[in-house]
Amino acid sequence: MTDLPAIVAQIAADMAGEVERGAVADYIPELAKVDPGQFALAVALPSGHVISAGDAATPFSIQSVSKVFTLAIALGRLGDSLWNRVGREPSGLAFNSILQLENEAGIPRNPFVNAGAIVVTDAILAGHAPKVVLAELLAFIRAAAGDEDIHINKAVARSEQATAHRNIALAEFMAAHGNLRNPSALTIGTYVHQCAVEMTTAQLARAGRFLVGAPGCPRLVSPARARRINALMMTCGHYDGSGEFAYRVGLPGKSGVGGGILAIAPGRASIAVWSPGLNAQGNSRLGTLALERLVRATGWSVFG
Ligand code: DON
Repeated sequence: MTDLPAIVAQIAADMAGEVERGAVADYIPELAKVDPGQFALAVALPSGHVISAGDAATPFSIQSVSKVFTLAIALGRLGDSLWNRVGREPSGLAFNSILQLENEAGIPRNPFVNAGAIVVTDAILAGHAPKVVLAELLAFIRAAAGDEDIHINKAVARSEQATAHRNIALAEFMAAHGNLRNPSALTIGTYVHQCAVEMTTAQLARAGRFLVGAPGCPRLVSPARARRINALMMTCGHYDGSGEFAYRVGLPGKSGVGGGILAIAPGRASIAVWSPGLNAQGNSRLGTLALERLVRATGWSVFG
């Protein structure tokens, strides 16, 4: 039997000694203020029991990890018709790239690059007020985590909104191709608030259990849908670093520029890790390293 508490504690201790921590995202001014010295690892078992170490009770900005929750909501609401507006292929490009949109008629490669996530948010907006959609998102995340104390950090949302030029460009470009249903200001306003959801690493680990597919986990999506969301996380969840993440970690994962990563060990556990310093692809540097070590120690890679 694997001694999970010892493994988790050892990884956190090892990470505390790492000097190369990567660079904190600074294109969202509010995120540039976060102390890069922080690290947390949390493993949530199907029962909801959490084993954690480090700064696992400190809230951080989940950013693109939110795209997993909005995708689950969009698929629940629209079913497979969502795939008329967004693809399911890795992009091989940066999360905020506009390059493929021109060649591919405004249909983003996948729901995790910014353009794709903006389409997903636009799809769930569908005539609803942004605050209704954001309340639904929070209700979903709170139900997944079994925790009501999860909120949106308004200062982070305002900070991103003020510098959202690229995302507005992506939205307008898709509008030009008929792939946006709401005014871009409404969709981007909703999107930046979704990205500004704040959670602790322990809360995020618990919230990922709906994708684990084991008895005891919250059943918020069907098993077939969970399997497909996991497939997209594996192939697209780390943008142009997805192949490297699959190679090193071997689990479906979704990163955010706040330094969080949610990884799913199907049938076993939901894992969250947080360290604000990022690698060149915008994914948490120590977060990836910690997951690599956790999987090595537990044998949890989906590739055996
Ligand atoms: O749209 C953005 O640029 C951010 N709100 C989210 C990007 C992000 O988290 C990319 N992940 N590594």
